[in-house]
Amino acid sequence: MALVLRDPQGASAMFTSALLLFVASSVSSMEVLVAQQINALNATTVKISCTFTSCYKLDISKFSMNWTYQATRNDTEETFMTFLKSRITPLRTEHFWDRVKFAGNLDKNDLSITISDVQLTDKGIYNCYVRNPPDRAEGHGIIQLSVVTELPPPRDSTIAVAVGASIGGMLALVILSMVIIKCVRRHKKQELISDEQKMEEEGKTDGDGGTEEGTKNDFA
Ligand SMILES: *[C@@H]1O[C@H](CO)[C@@H](O)[C@H](O)[C@H]1NC(C)=O
Ligand SMILES: *[C@@H]1O[C@H](CO)[C@@H](O)[C@H](O)[C@H]1NC(C)=O
Ligand SMILES: *[C@@H]1O[C@H](CO)[C@@H](O)[C@H](O)[C@H]1NC(C)=O
Repeated sequence: MALVLRDPQGASAMFTSALLLFVASSVSSMEVLVAQQINALNATTVKISCTFTSCYKLDISKFSMNWTYQATRNDTEETFMTFLKSRITPLRTEHFWDRVKFAGNLDKNDLSITISDVQLTDKGIYNCYVRNPPDRAEGHGIIQLSVVTELPPPRDSTIAVAVGASIGGMLALVILSMVIIKCVRRHKKQELISDEQKMEEEGKTDGDGGTEEGTKNDFA
């Protein structure tokens, strides 16, 4: 499922719209929420958000995530942040060196990062990968970052942002409730299965008990 919001005003009106566009990964119990398009101003610090939802509580011993960068879709992905020794750790790549920092919160399923002193060469595609076993699906968020050298004129952007933000908020709510429903269904299914197993087992025990008693009676 991919939810994409087109901006009628053109990209320039989207300047402060980091959280306008939400994209959820394909149909699975793991959903990744990201802003699909972020515009950053040269030499400032930009936050790139990535959060995920999962039916399962995060288990440090199984959890895995990566942030990768590629200048264009045709370029190879360069991993610049990963989960190492129970911590989200920046890797000192030639491109980012010490400019990337983890800015999220694992307790809140938040894998966001910041890039400081944004350069024009930082524009490109940022991938946020996450795996949270026993959830089998891998979450994948894709963010397109553009870097501009000056703020666009403020015309119509407030309206576009307000409309976009409310749509974005609604989408986030819809996605969240879908995940909750999925998780509840999954748990119900599991309960049903275990109930059936219990009944079968109880049935067996009753039968065995009966035979045992019968045998005892025969001996008595
Ligand atoms: C980006 O920002 C830096 C620092 O403010 C400045 O020196 C540089 O000229 C800017 N680059 C462009 C292309 O505007
Ligand atoms: C990527 O590669 C394809 C096929 O080689 C080419 O048609 C396309 O123009 C390339 N895209 C970019 C952004 O370089
Ligand atoms: C992250 O990268 C490591 C090393 O390449 C890989 O083993 C792991 O599966 C990756 N995790 C995700 C969620 O992509």
